[in-house]
Amino acid sequence: MTPLVELRNATKDFRGIKAFSDVNFSLMPGEIHAVLGENGAGKSTLTKVMAGVHTLSEGELLIDGKPERLETPSAALAKGIAMVYQENSLVPSMTVAQNIYLGHEKTFNRLRGIYIAAQQFLQSLSFHVDPTALVSSLGAAQKQMVEIARAVHQQARVIIFDEPTASLTPEEKRYFFQLIRNLKKNGVTIIFISHALEEALELADTITVLRDGELVASQPASSLDRNGIIRLMVGRELSGEIYADTTETRKIRPLGRKILSVENLSMGGLVRNSSFSVYEGQVTGMFGLVGSGRTEMMKVVAGVIKRDFFHGGQVRLFGRPIRYRVPAPAIRDGIVYVTEERKQEGFFETMSIAENIHIGQVVKNRGGGFQVMSMNSAREAADTWRNRLNIRAINPDAKVIELSGGNQQKVVIAKALIQKPRLVIFDEPTRGVDVGAIAEIHAFIKQLADDGIGVVVISSYLPEVLAISDRILIARQGKIVEEMEAGTATEESIMYAAVH
Ligand SMILES: Nc1ncnc2c1ncn2[C@@H]1O[C@H](COP(=O)(O)OP(=O)(O)OP(=O)(O)O)[C@@H](O)[C@H]1O
Ligand SMILES: [Mg+2]
Repeated sequence: MTPLVELRNATKDFRGIKAFSDVNFSLMPGEIHAVLGENGAGKSTLTKVMAGVHTLSEGELLIDGKPERLETPSAALAKGIAMVYQENSLVPSMTVAQNIYLGHEKTFNRLRGIYIAAQQFLQSLSFHVDPTALVSSLGAAQKQMVEIARAVHQQARVIIFDEPTASLTPEEKRYFFQLIRNLKKNGVTIIFISHALEEALELADTITVLRDGELVASQPASSLDRNGIIRLMVGRELSGEIYADTTETRKIRPLGRKILSVENLSMGGLVRNSSFSVYEGQVTGMFGLVGSGRTEMMKVVAGVIKRDFFHGGQVRLFGRPIRYRVPAPAIRDGIVYVTEERKQEGFFETMSIAENIHIGQVVKNRGGGFQVMSMNSAREAADTWRNRLNIRAINPDAKVIELSGGNQQKVVIAKALIQKPRLVIFDEPTRGVDVGAIAEIHAFIKQLADDGIGVVVISSYLPEVLAISDRILIARQGKIVEEMEAGTATEESIMYAAVH
């Protein structure tokens, strides 16, 4: 059988530095093909070559056995290849429906037609997204659904998904898997990139593993298991399980001083009369399905979304009432929110790591009477953090946009921690981070709690919530409905509280 897409001795370099080299890759018609590897291994770049985003520096790209040169994404689309990107590529000022039908508006004679079609289409995919909503008003998961819907709508022969399930809840993931299987039944060939190895094993027919830009394996999924994949990815055994640190084997940190108390907080329809507390020296996990308001509750605390006047409630930091309208004063008071939307909120993408850290310091110290960090010390700090979090950049002055997705996430974390917070809120801290780095980031978060800082971790991934929390808060329909001791919580009990 002729491969639908093939790469022969393919190399891509950016200004002399290789993202991948000498790769031979075949995508067979009708298969589901997973591409795995550590952060920066070259997964996104490899697939972007097939989607017309990048062109090869050396080697050949063949489609249906014929050499092709795809200069643009629309050239790839003309050949039937569509891609759902890791960093979202929607137009924020347009509605959901307009984004899905971008370029096809002419087939509708009224705007209303677009909304009706989009409504039906989204429903057929089991995506709960309002077609008339502006994309800028959506959360990360819903944006991802719109991206996926758009690719499916383009009716491509090949759809490439770059970390499609990263922001989805377990429930939404099940729908998505079903969608992938249905696409396959309808003859669509799928490539998907994921850090969730179980997903790859469950879904894929073929698994390709990249390590440091080299293809180290491409074989039937049935011939691999989780540990085998990890060995191929990192070139060694990882010590132990990533989520092995279960609550049974570990000491739960005691409650420290109460650092934050939230009483009867309400905001729009998103937060409804919610009350909870956060203590120093502990990791407080926060679990909830999309729409449960967990992100919004914490964003209000950190001044990331403006507190709506007409809704009530009280937020106290060490007993003192606080109400921030922007993040800067919250940061000066020691509250830092580490965003789940790294691209929009996390950093300045055309600046280097050091410049981003420098800017972070300027925000912290403005008006505080402190010395603002010099650019030289920012550079030193950048080096320190690059080592601590193992941020892989091809050169120290690389722009953040040139880093791989997982490494960008580590920059967002470094930028927040350098502000020496007393209360730090991580929203999905390991999204898009590879198995090795997840362990590093978890160790780091626990160290913060051991150092006496109040830590909140919002996560949609139950094994993560259980591995990292001392206490677990469960949000449902805009409020915290239950609080659990990590020692007694189980995946089932947490999920039960989140949906009932
Ligand atoms: N536009 C670019 N300019 C310069 N370097 C780039 C660019 N895009 C990617 N790179 C570099 O190429 C290498 C591979 O990056 P890529 O994004 O393909 O990794 P990845 O496997 O998708 O990682 P992740 O799991 O973190 O998303 C990295 O070293 C990255 O810094
Ligand atoms: Mg990537």
